[in-house]
Amino acid sequence: MIETISKNIFLYASQSRALNTAAKKWGLRFGASQVVAGETIESAMKAAKSLNEKGLVCTVDHLGEFVSSREEASEATEYCIRTLDSIAESGAQCNLSLKLTQLGLDIDVDFCLHNMRRILDTAKKHQNFVRIDMEDYAHCQMTLDMLRELRKEYENVGTVIQAYLHRSLQDVKDLKGVPLRLVKGAYKESPEVAYQDKKQVDENYMRIIREHLLSGSYTAIATHDHNIIAKVKEFVEEHGISRDQFEFQMLYGIRKEMQVQLAEEGYTMRVYIPFGNDWFGYFMRRLAERPQNVAFAIKGLFSK
Ligand code: FDA
Repeated sequence: MIETISKNIFLYASQSRALNTAAKKWGLRFGASQVVAGETIESAMKAAKSLNEKGLVCTVDHLGEFVSSREEASEATEYCIRTLDSIAESGAQCNLSLKLTQLGLDIDVDFCLHNMRRILDTAKKHQNFVRIDMEDYAHCQMTLDMLRELRKEYENVGTVIQAYLHRSLQDVKDLKGVPLRLVKGAYKESPEVAYQDKKQVDENYMRIIREHLLSGSYTAIATHDHNIIAKVKEFVEEHGISRDQFEFQMLYGIRKEMQVQLAEEGYTMRVYIPFGNDWFGYFMRRLAERPQNVAFAIKGLFSK
């Protein structure tokens, strides 16, 4: 009960434009630096290189929410391009994750498409890959439509499918051959479109993982759930699925020992590194997922 209330408070805060805007001026606070790798590209590259040294590969995400003007979307596009250039310069084993609403999806779909093409051209030049994160249900169909359009021209782009959505098994079937990151889902969605019960989400998660792996498609299994990870290990063993066909992914700062352990066992382990001054919404969603993390947020209140 208390867990549900706190989860809803954090999810509500994550969607508050006023709090997100205010937090940009605060600098990383409340312990956010444990899950956000600083505010600059340099700090993200430093984190990526240090994880690479431990045998982990990475993806970086320049945090940004509530983009409502063309100027902001163009700025975010330039930032993505600069980030891809920095990855190439630094030699880090790292790709890019981004959100279409940052690039103007809510402003003008064609403008967003144009921005994505510029980013993907840069990624192609550096032989790198771009992952389109999946946002809330209201943007799901638009994101998949844009991905289909981009896949006609680019192979170096993929997206994310969320197990909590009723539609996801069909989406995964339709996206055979496309590199997908599969997750449980991080937003608050209605029972009309999403499973609310954890057991049902977990069951659907395994269903979509099995579907994508068996179709021979490259699959990123992005979870901190050791039960799911154990099941995936067993499944790939049973079906003779090569380790080149999948990877595990986890978020920066979460279950760090397990990240290293999986890499030491010979699995590809990719760490998602968020950075930037727009950290508040991301941090609130992490607190919503795991209220135990509130302890480090409270400690952070006193230490900056
Ligand atoms: P869940 O939260 O159900 O936890 C399962 C179990 O794992 C827990 O019961 C506990 O035992 C263990 N556990 C979890 N966190 C732990 C911790 N900090 N310490 C110790 N044990 C812990 N979502 C989305 O909607 N769109 C997206 O694009 C993405 N992208 C994305 C990328 C990557 C790399 C990751 C890892 C996740 C996402 N997500 C996402 C978020 C995802 O949808 C989901 O909200 C979180 O991963 C939390 O769910 P888990 O699968 O980790 O399991």
